[in-house]
Amino acid sequence: MGYKEVYSAWQADPEKFWMEAAEKIDWDTKPSKALFDGNAPLYEWFSDGLVNTCWNAVDRHVEEGRGDQIAIMHESPITHSTKGITYKELQTRVASLAGALKMRGVEKGDRVIIYMPMIPEALEAMLACSRIGAIHSVVFGGFAANELAVRIDDCTPKAIIAASCGLEPNRVVHYKPLLDEAIEIADHKPEFCVIFQREQEVAKLIEGRDFSWHGFQYGVKPADCVPVEGNHPAYILYTSGTTGQPKGVVRHTGGHLVALQWTMKNIYNIEAGDRFWAASDVGWVVGHSYICYGPLIAGATTVVFEGKPIGTPHPGVFWRIIQNNRIKSFFTAPTALRAIKREDPNGEWIKRYALHDLQALFLAGERADPDTVEWAQKHLGVPVVDHWWQTETGWAIAANPIGIEELPTKVGSPSVPMPGYDVQVLDEGGHPVAPGTLGAIAIKLPLPPGTLPTLWQAEERFKKSYLEHFPGYYETGDAGYIDEDGYLYIMARTDDVINVAGHRLSTGAMEEVLAGHPDVAECAVIGVADDLKGQSPMGFLCLNAGCNRPHAEIVKECVARVRDQIGPVAAFKLATVVDRLPKTRSGKILRGTMVKIADGQEWKMPATIDDPAILDEITEALKGLGYPRG
Ligand code: COA
Ligand code: AMP
Repeated sequence: MGYKEVYSAWQADPEKFWMEAAEKIDWDTKPSKALFDGNAPLYEWFSDGLVNTCWNAVDRHVEEGRGDQIAIMHESPITHSTKGITYKELQTRVASLAGALKMRGVEKGDRVIIYMPMIPEALEAMLACSRIGAIHSVVFGGFAANELAVRIDDCTPKAIIAASCGLEPNRVVHYKPLLDEAIEIADHKPEFCVIFQREQEVAKLIEGRDFSWHGFQYGVKPADCVPVEGNHPAYILYTSGTTGQPKGVVRHTGGHLVALQWTMKNIYNIEAGDRFWAASDVGWVVGHSYICYGPLIAGATTVVFEGKPIGTPHPGVFWRIIQNNRIKSFFTAPTALRAIKREDPNGEWIKRYALHDLQALFLAGERADPDTVEWAQKHLGVPVVDHWWQTETGWAIAANPIGIEELPTKVGSPSVPMPGYDVQVLDEGGHPVAPGTLGAIAIKLPLPPGTLPTLWQAEERFKKSYLEHFPGYYETGDAGYIDEDGYLYIMARTDDVINVAGHRLSTGAMEEVLAGHPDVAECAVIGVADDLKGQSPMGFLCLNAGCNRPHAEIVKECVARVRDQIGPVAAFKLATVVDRLPKTRSGKILRGTMVKIADGQEWKMPATIDDPAILDEITEALKGLGYPRG
């Protein structure tokens, strides 16, 4: 069957389609049906089945005779180490950690925060939670203590599993002090912490609260897999919204398993025994779905990479790892390729490695710009698949499903909707627009298995953020169009979310931090085009009347403030002081117009502007920062 037949089969009978897909999962009790729509517009999948994620990701492969196959390869050019863990070893390690968690009172439904760098123990912690039905929430290491504290208060974990440190190319990230500070700031206190001591920096443990990873597991009885309901939350993953309060995306167990298993073969063309690598971080959704769960559920080998595309130590590191691990499908962010392309424009580093096993390159996280796609096509000689998805969906909304059929590529488009997704482009009134016309991208409800059923303890926010604007649809927050052939084009966000080096960030959250500076009366943060990172945040600060401190000093403090409160990952380095911000007569800041001026795009004077002269002042301030570029 080709893509069209598969998509039509889903359209004709979604229930049959997903029940068939569910057969690839080992259930303790099979679900009686796929879709549970009794509480529409809130939907659930496979709710009455009983299943365990860890069983499907680890134990079943051992049972099926793949115990000696490498499950996880750790590749750390930063520590100069390479290490493989077989499925059998993984089973032993995860069962032991799960047993220790259980012994300390962690039970089904309890939350556990995981704050770890790119080491196999991060995946083991995730799997140990799923083994006993605990709900994990992984927090990205590039966030500051304050962000971690916000997540601790929101999901109220019984335990936190962390590492003593993370390693960036130029510095050690002191995870443990950050963790201590976060627990100090948070109102909720975890009962205990488990710390994986890395030799690069051993952390001081707090007596009675902290346990070392190994000591914690001494003498415990390994835990068996606990079957959970299909609608039991497997994890919570926080993502940026329009405000400083992140959204806790919930992932239900049954749909997650079924959808990821389906995608591994049909999108990535990966089956048991194959080798797959997603060069992302466990703190992001790509890391959840395609470093940890997807490849392991499929019985493939996954790579945990601790390094950067360049500088660790050279721009050939991706290709070396692909060669050495005989990777069949590789997944990265366009920004990583842009970084490599900048240092190796002619692909000389690519030629040094034998990439015979590589069959496809997958890109996501931000728009894949045509230059980068064409560079990769030319130098790698394999299909380059741009695919579009979100933390909320957990897997691709649109892709070129090479495991089914390789469709013609259209550079600049993530290709076509996957089964389960009825994608439509709507005008402001919620009416579908003609092909080629730009509009808000929405997905007709219900969303497929594996996508978010709600936000953690915030059902109203879920409805308000995603379901209310276009009744009957899920609002993606992205804008774009569909062409005559049904190919999607994702052009921009419709909200204040920006995408910096493939990382999703909220300008609203940065504004909240800047507004907290004692000299700042009002501010705006926009995302300006950046050759490497796609977008970069830029702040405009209006100071309190009478403030006569040097502007440069205040800007420096604001930059430090965002780094301290949100984290280095915000990459907030550009800010300027202005007298006033451009607004509509109703007081809305005209961020979109500011972006256009900064990027040197054509722009029209908004009809609703309060005082057009302010845009001249903004243009001058941008010139002072060197914008527009080029
Ligand atoms: N822990 C702690 N700090 C982290 C971190 C982590 N896990 N990840 C990034 N940071 C820090 C970096 O050290 C950097 O700090 P600095 O300001 O002190 O230099 C800051 O956050 C910004 O990091 P990053 O966005 O990675 O920029 P960079 O300049 O270090 O590297 C690229 C540029 C393009 C090489 C890099 O962004 C990259 O590899 N991007 C790919 C991203 C990706 O795979 N995203 C996946 C989403 S699907
Ligand atoms: P995240 O939740 O961090 O995965 O970010 C999701 C957002 O990143 C989407 O809503 C898009 O704005 C953007 N995005 C992800 N993948 C793509 C893609 N292939 N093309 C364009 N934008 C993308």
